[in-house]
Amino acid sequence: MIVDDVHPAWLPEAAFRAIGLRRVRVDGDGPLVETVRAELVGAGATLAEPADLVLALTGSLGEEGFAITRREGVTVVRAGGQAGLLYGFFEVVRMGEAAFTGEWAQRRYAPAMRRRMLDHWDNVDVHPVMGQVERGYAGGSLFWHNGVPRDLARVRSYARLLASVGINAVAINNVNVHRTEAHLLTDRLGEVAAVAAAMRPYGIRVHLSVSFAAPVTLGGLATADPLDGKVRDWWAGTTCEVYETIPDFGGYVVKADSEGQPGPFGYGRSHVDGANMLAGALAPFGGVVHWRAFVYNHRQDWRDRSTDRARAAYETFAPLDGQFRDNVVLQVKHGPMDFQAREPVSPVIAAMPATSVAVELQVTQEYTGQQRHACYLGPMWSEVLRFPLAGEADVATLADELVGVSNVGADPFWTGHPLAQSNLYAFGRLAWDPAADPLRILDEWIDLTFGPAVDRAALHEILDDSWQVYESYTAPLGVGWMVSPGHHYGPDVDGYEYSPWGTYHFADRDGIGVDRTRATGTGFAGQYPQPWSQVFESLDRCPDELLLFFHHVPYGHVLRSGSTVIQHIYDTHIAGAERAVAMRAAWERLAGQVAPDLDERVRERLDEQVRSAAQWRDQINTYFLRKSGVPDTEGRHIYG
Ligand code: GCU
Repeated sequence: MIVDDVHPAWLPEAAFRAIGLRRVRVDGDGPLVETVRAELVGAGATLAEPADLVLALTGSLGEEGFAITRREGVTVVRAGGQAGLLYGFFEVVRMGEAAFTGEWAQRRYAPAMRRRMLDHWDNVDVHPVMGQVERGYAGGSLFWHNGVPRDLARVRSYARLLASVGINAVAINNVNVHRTEAHLLTDRLGEVAAVAAAMRPYGIRVHLSVSFAAPVTLGGLATADPLDGKVRDWWAGTTCEVYETIPDFGGYVVKADSEGQPGPFGYGRSHVDGANMLAGALAPFGGVVHWRAFVYNHRQDWRDRSTDRARAAYETFAPLDGQFRDNVVLQVKHGPMDFQAREPVSPVIAAMPATSVAVELQVTQEYTGQQRHACYLGPMWSEVLRFPLAGEADVATLADELVGVSNVGADPFWTGHPLAQSNLYAFGRLAWDPAADPLRILDEWIDLTFGPAVDRAALHEILDDSWQVYESYTAPLGVGWMVSPGHHYGPDVDGYEYSPWGTYHFADRDGIGVDRTRATGTGFAGQYPQPWSQVFESLDRCPDELLLFFHHVPYGHVLRSGSTVIQHIYDTHIAGAERAVAMRAAWERLAGQVAPDLDERVRERLDEQVRSAAQWRDQINTYFLRKSGVPDTEGRHIYG
């Protein structure tokens, strides 16, 4: 079941040792139950009586929920549906020996989100600019190589990893649907069916990104107008064929009117028209359309100070709430901009009470070190999910689904940086239980991946606050960007300052930041419900870490922390680069405790992180010393 040349990630043989020693009974039938049986046999367990472990399909725990009890020396997993039984099995794996120790009353488990999904930005072909996987930092695609499908054993192993953390849906291709990939919907559908077959035994349904222009580009029609009868018929017919080939197909993912992708605006129609037309085609089969809210003007003139990209998604979608069909899921990036290391939560998430909402996170580290920097994102996602955006309701409660852009590729460690596996793990665990402690999740991942003998403290030292460390040596106080244009790796403070992308910091000799207040700025702060609208509007109440997202302030502005903005920039960048050095030193303590190939890979990445963090520190500090003329109060060396 495990492909030889691939790292087992958090499911090494040792993780199954406790189960492997047991006699087990499985009560139930069906394909996923068979997967559980095969897993048990693969782990070395004996299907025999008297059982130490019973897994049973029974009761009313929902399709995905399960309960575990231990009484009189027998551990019993009960599940309402086959998927629940599979998840219950993996819970027992996670528990290890503890699952077979002591006695306890029933513990119930059920996912918070109905769909827990990973989106792959994979292309069939190697794209001339983006490579094969757009924003991919883990080698080529899992699904295609040289324009043809890959060996599916790898896909099956991937599905197994995902199921073990409760993921139940995967979209297999890039939201920017290029010419070749558009054909996955029609004449290349067999390739999608093959991936779906490989993932099905682990309860994962396959979704496909489609181009809104497909009726024209694939169907030969003159228009893709969503209100045109022929267009609707084309989508209905095409979708019918998809379901004839893949009966449990999940649905479509659509990036429309966004960064050059076609959409309903091109035909003078609204996003309701576009999304509902596709939803209508999918509805008879139980499919859904994930309609992305990442819609903004990417051809902005930097001289135009009235347009604010942060406002765009809310302006487009908030007025449409209540008009989407039931099987439309509006997929909203967690922040109003684009996956920066620090952003406020998107106000769109609170603006759509009558619409299904999926919150989209970026597991692939486009803006958080590209899997060259160790950056554990669990704490960031946890903050997002627990943010009380609308009264008592936090983001996790407002959201119906969680979607992550996958960080996995053809790399032997799956994720390029082996420590980035923790992000994939944490994504699944938080989608299942957004209230879970991200450091506890990390500990679980360490235990499963490296075993109990590893120096956990060293790994925690590297990863626990690695997101804040990354934030500290990159763009300050929520202002974002300052990355090299195009590939987005490494610093370039003014790289996007005069570009059309709407991502500016407005630093001058006196100050920095984007005024997004209602009083004097773009008014974005007004898109939030109370109290956040007032909190973000107020210079005194705005949290330090988001100050420059909402306000333009002088360098001498005193933060709530007591430091000035300029001193904060110097201090955090110097401390952040030092922390990168300390992370590398902490890894040294793991010498001999991890496999040599993994050790070598992590060392190479940590060396790069140390180099890159110093580069960030020096460029940012020098830039702001030159702009402001304000020296460091500590008198440390900053390049002038
Ligand atoms: C970012 C990213 C793009 C991607 C886009 C999206 O802008 O840089 O590569 O296509 O997000 O989410 O659609």
